[in-house]
Amino acid sequence: MVPVSGADRLVGVGVGRALNWRRITRMDRTIDLFVPGRVCLFGEHSDWAGAYRRFNSAITPGKVIIAGTNQGIQARVQACPNQFVVRTTLPDGTHLEERLPMEREALLSTARAGGFFSYAAGVAYTILTYYKVDGVEIDNYLTTMPVKKGLSSSAAFCVLVARAFNCVYDLKLTTRAEMEAAYQGEILTPSRCGRMDQGCAFGQVPVLMAFDGDLLQTSRLAVGSHMHLLIGDLKGHKDTIRILADLTHAYPFPVDAASRAAHEYLGPINADIVSRATDILQRGDAQALGALMTEAQQQFDQHLMPVCPTELTAPRLHAVLQDPQVRELSYGGKGVGSQGDGCVQLVARGEAERTRLAAYLQATYGMDCYDLDMKPPKLVRKAVIPAAGFGTRMFPATKAVKKEMLPLITADGQCKPILLAIVEEACSAGIEEVAIIVRAGDEAYYEQFFCSLPSPEHYNKLPEKARRACHELAELGTRITFIPQTEQLGFGHAVYCARDWVGQEPFLLLLGDHIYASNSDRTCARQLIDAFHAGGQVSVIGTYLAAAEEVCHYGTLAGAWLNPEQTLASVTDFAEKPSADYARHNLVTAGLPTDHFLCVYGQYVLTARIFDYLQRQIEADQRQAGEIQLTTALDALRQDQGLLAQVVDGEHYDTGMPIAYLRSIVSFYERGLQGRRG
Ligand code: UTP
Repeated sequence: MVPVSGADRLVGVGVGRALNWRRITRMDRTIDLFVPGRVCLFGEHSDWAGAYRRFNSAITPGKVIIAGTNQGIQARVQACPNQFVVRTTLPDGTHLEERLPMEREALLSTARAGGFFSYAAGVAYTILTYYKVDGVEIDNYLTTMPVKKGLSSSAAFCVLVARAFNCVYDLKLTTRAEMEAAYQGEILTPSRCGRMDQGCAFGQVPVLMAFDGDLLQTSRLAVGSHMHLLIGDLKGHKDTIRILADLTHAYPFPVDAASRAAHEYLGPINADIVSRATDILQRGDAQALGALMTEAQQQFDQHLMPVCPTELTAPRLHAVLQDPQVRELSYGGKGVGSQGDGCVQLVARGEAERTRLAAYLQATYGMDCYDLDMKPPKLVRKAVIPAAGFGTRMFPATKAVKKEMLPLITADGQCKPILLAIVEEACSAGIEEVAIIVRAGDEAYYEQFFCSLPSPEHYNKLPEKARRACHELAELGTRITFIPQTEQLGFGHAVYCARDWVGQEPFLLLLGDHIYASNSDRTCARQLIDAFHAGGQVSVIGTYLAAAEEVCHYGTLAGAWLNPEQTLASVTDFAEKPSADYARHNLVTAGLPTDHFLCVYGQYVLTARIFDYLQRQIEADQRQAGEIQLTTALDALRQDQGLLAQVVDGEHYDTGMPIAYLRSIVSFYERGLQGRRG
């Protein structure tokens, strides 16, 4: 076992927090989880070699790049009083089930006994040791990943169990902490695993991992373009235990020429290869990636093969890598994991070439192949908040103050501008950068609020809490960009102004004159972002249920439910501020209370495609009620890419009309107070 460092120890990630789990447990919820396998793209063996820095500081830190596979483990999880239940369906269709009391002794002895359930029991034991949790039921109903093929299926299962507890009991573990719990659980079993294996917790992204003695550091890598890799099962001989036993003879101190060569390869040569691989992945250069894999294999053969020739000569692996047909269809490749004739990884020249390569390897060598796609991230990192309207309905107040800067009162008695609450909503949903669309010439007005501290005289008069707020605000300001809208042509036009800033990423869009309060522990914006991912990265509109007499004020839509809970629907029709009669005839969504409709909530997650439709609208000067509306472009987007409606579990408050503003800020404050009491 490799002990963990102080920085990484599980106790450092939340143990000791007073958890009232009964209050926050999602007892009634079933949660769907997917954990992929992982393949080591570069740097295998340098993980354990780097751990030897504890004994020999002359060793270079280990560096690896792993990637989550397309295949993995799919499970439904839920709370289960007093019991730990695991059901699994193996790739060959066999069903297995184990029920254990949620007690440490029982879990530990199952972990120690080995076998399939030992992994799950080990992780459950670890979690129960550090956290106040009850049982969970895990139904692993689908496994698409091959087991015992170097894709770390056991580590993926351990991560699944750690994540199941994390989600069901809302432990707020980070991904790193899930990895750590999975690792601690797996090493309780007779199986040995490295600390690289749990990297599958990061999902289907490449992750750079550095091993320096006990310290493990991880960072996700953003891939520059879609690359098509293929993993092939060589169906040959591989004895990992023998490979490791022979290689570890060379550590911690090299004793002969062969062990010095091993240190050279797993140290400086590997560090250089991984550093170049990082750059290549970020550039998205598939050709260079394939060439670098070929180079890494040559270096591996030259430096490590002599240490364990019986295993590392790997005749099948080398026959495949040198096959002219394989070379024609791929840019290069190398062995997987500890190497030997286990699996090969190849960078195909494209998608079609990968299909041909898989067929060729199957026909010629009888190999089973698995696609590995590395795609640029589509995380929702950016938010756009239009705040450039005239606010005519709030006149004459808007002659003095922008309507987005009117005050609200939070439950802790703070008075803050509406726009600040909206920016906070975005950031607490994981947004990294915010663009606020402002009237041209108003940039300095907003910058002065968000980006600078008050004058020294003003600052010195503030109480301590307010001074802290000043610094938090200035910190928030570093994430904000102000984009001018030169003409007030409408909401849709304001969104279009963010086109260049957004680029090709999906983005969160929030109305600048609404405030939001969630009913759950996920903010409203987070619910939409989650729906965007759950729905396969299709654009999502936040909605709420409104009575027929209200629809004339709001965008209204009809949808077909996608889930039995009726929270996510596919949008089938759309209208901007329809009459009640129009809605009754055209916008009925089955299953809603009589005379109720889905109305727009004020939050959206949209793909960058929306800008193409807004551009067409602007070029054709296509207006509704004199303005370039978003609704028209949304309807085009719906027909093109599809559009989802998420019923947000929360409240939104309109602050753009006088009486609505009054009611909204009172309700928002009172609701916040109730939340604090409850
Ligand atoms: P509204 O539809 O409420 O328009 O805008 P408005 O102009 O602000 O207010 P009224 O109708 O004159 O009273 C919804 C959001 O879009 C922004 C607004 O600032 C608000 O946050 N918006 C609207 C723009 O940024 N630019 C525009 O041209 C119009």
